[in-house]
Amino acid sequence: MSNAESVPSPEKVGLAELAAMKRESRPIVMVTAYDHPSARLADAAGVDIVFTGDSAANNVLGYADTTPISMDEMVMLARAARRGTHRAFFMADLPLGAFQVSDEDAVRNALRLVKEAGAEAVKIEGAGPMVSRARAIVGAGIPLMGHLGLTPQTATMLGGYKAQGRTAAKARQLYADALALQAAGCFAIVLEAVPDRIAARITEALRIPTIGIGAGPHCAGQVLVWHDLLGINEGFAAKFVKRFASVGEETRRGLEAFAAEVRAGTYPGDEHSYHITDAEYALFESETAPGVLVADDWL
Ligand code: KIV
Repeated sequence: MSNAESVPSPEKVGLAELAAMKRESRPIVMVTAYDHPSARLADAAGVDIVFTGDSAANNVLGYADTTPISMDEMVMLARAARRGTHRAFFMADLPLGAFQVSDEDAVRNALRLVKEAGAEAVKIEGAGPMVSRARAIVGAGIPLMGHLGLTPQTATMLGGYKAQGRTAAKARQLYADALALQAAGCFAIVLEAVPDRIAARITEALRIPTIGIGAGPHCAGQVLVWHDLLGINEGFAAKFVKRFASVGEETRRGLEAFAAEVRAGTYPGDEHSYHITDAEYALFESETAPGVLVADDWL
């Protein structure tokens, strides 16, 4: 699905607008953000969904993957991003351990993201037993996005970070899982690392939007991770990552220039310094000249 004419409306994005975008083939643009300035920039750029994903774990907290991030960490990051999001729909992720054990846990933790971080919706990974979690979260009145295909929280079970649904049997399972999540009340589903034709078929079969990441051009929307799309992550990138900017390179250039000027004594210059009048300075000098006693009332 693509529509080059599509421009963001100035209105606050809500669930009805996201549903309409799918119906009217207007691509949904979603991006992750894990702090206030990033969310503010995404919002100002007209992105439709700002999302604090558990990919914060490896992108901002320095963990090797998404599995260690806690609910407390997610709440803290999402709160900051929420404060920068005004027009876009704002969502946050339920991390590993926050929803797998029981429906009660899932609802309790989803409520935390809504009440403490201001999330308008949450996301969970998986299907099968997670369909019951989906029903419970939606039943509690919290809009939910599903996530199928490569689900990083359970990547070990999937045999690593690999494309999913590449056999007819696996693709059929993905298709069935997507229908089950839709029936459970999800308002959208992320499809990650899924063959383009399978994602297209699922998108066609669903009423709700699919949001692709490595799922080809025929999803109802696309999502990328902030640090990938802006070129802050500079090493290995998954096949689906396109770097739309080189922020990492530019950041390094800026830091090297700062260090060089401090070392050369050219920063700060006169224009970066505060000044005192000659009269006030002369008085200060006379009061602090060597040998002048420091008055008791200065201390
Ligand atoms: O955590 C994340 O960044 C995600 C996106 C890939 C949707 O789940």
